[in-house]
Amino acid sequence: MSANNISKVKITLEDQVHTIEVPFNGSSITQVAEDNGIDAPYSCQGGVCRTCRALVTEGKVEMDENYALTDEEVEQGYVLTCQSHPRTENVSIDFDDQ
Ligand code: FES
Repeated sequence: MSANNISKVKITLEDQVHTIEVPFNGSSITQVAEDNGIDAPYSCQGGVCRTCRALVTEGKVEMDENYALTDEEVEQGYVLTCQSHPRTENVSIDFDDQ
């Protein structure tokens, strides 16, 4: 873990790569992306609608709630970013790989 429990999260969205700093505990990746002006998709922010689904390609994240993804999707590395918090110093998330 990094000293401040902050992760560098690389977000691939519509062929552009953005890097944001997301706390291990606190705002979700979706919230921090929005705070940084990144137009990542979301709707319910409650873990239900799966609009915010993306693929984790590096590192680990943990979801608070997951009412939308199947076990198989989770095994493949998909997450609901509105519920996701980083658990490693570096995380990469791909919204384009759907
Ligand atoms: S925004 Fe609905 S599940 Fe994340």
